[in-house]
Amino acid sequence: MAGKQLFIVTGATGGFGSAILRQINLLYGEDAVIIACGRNKPKLDDVTKGFAAGVKHISVDFAERQGLKERCQAIFDLAAGETFSAAYLYNNHGLASDVTRLAQDFDDSAEIEDYFFLNLTSFQVLTAVFLKNFSGVPHTCVNISSKCAVVAFPSMSLYCTGKAARLMLYKCLAAENPEVKVLNYSPGLMLTTMTENFHNTVAVDSTKKTFQAFKEGNLYVDTDESAKKMLGIVKEGSFTSGEQIDFHDC
Ligand SMILES: NC(=O)c1ccc[n+]([C@@H]2O[C@H](COP(=O)([O-])OP(=O)(O)OC[C@H]3O[C@@H](n4cnc5c(N)ncnc54)[C@H](OP(=O)(O)O)[C@@H]3O)[C@@H](O)[C@H]2O)c1
Repeated sequence: MAGKQLFIVTGATGGFGSAILRQINLLYGEDAVIIACGRNKPKLDDVTKGFAAGVKHISVDFAERQGLKERCQAIFDLAAGETFSAAYLYNNHGLASDVTRLAQDFDDSAEIEDYFFLNLTSFQVLTAVFLKNFSGVPHTCVNISSKCAVVAFPSMSLYCTGKAARLMLYKCLAAENPEVKVLNYSPGLMLTTMTENFHNTVAVDSTKKTFQAFKEGNLYVDTDESAKKMLGIVKEGSFTSGEQIDFHDC
């Protein structure tokens, strides 16, 4: 594909987000322009030091309701006026839910709304604004999904519900927009800040044992290996738009 390709990555300074940046750089080098959305600039500078790819940085708080649409537009404005052969959105940001409580313990509507604002609403608004930018350029939207989108893990109700909603949203997006490539990618269980958090606080024994088994058996998927696999799938483009692909399935 001739011309530079644009990659927008959210949650870029976190575990899997950083791996996505590294793998884009390895796969596309100077043919890539990356817009990295991350709130920790020194960490991002560290991750992207020596990249052949062009890197632009923006700090966006996806939990802040006021002016979200305008803040999403500011991300894409960083690449305004440039010409690209393709544009990819890696919608990766997300927050661990409170896993010390069960589904029936969540009765504070403000707490629930805040959780879904960050993990679902901002995800949707960002996608909608992305699709209104870079007209005439092929768009690809990637949801960093999870096995939790399709399997109920006790203690993880908010997280599972958020991931299930993101999955269905991107299935609908694919059904409505045949010209847009849409991938739901489940990266496998990886050792990151998020999993450490789950591991240390999860209330229900069966879920705790699942995390324990991964830790003791050293079964965590390497973040870079998973990101490399995902980028390969997207580059090859042979997936059915809207489907969920798990790291372990391919
Ligand atoms: N770890 C796993 O085993 C696993 C498995 C399946 C799916 N996933 C998914 O993979 C994605 C990345 O998770 P991770 O494991 O790499 O966890 P992580 O290290 O905790 O990274 C999550 C990232 O989300 C961003 N984020 C959180 N709150 C934000 C906010 N208010 N505004 C903007 N950004 C915010 C942060 O980005 P900045 O600090 O850069 O701003 C953070 O780096 C998530 O969607 C997660 O659900 C993870």
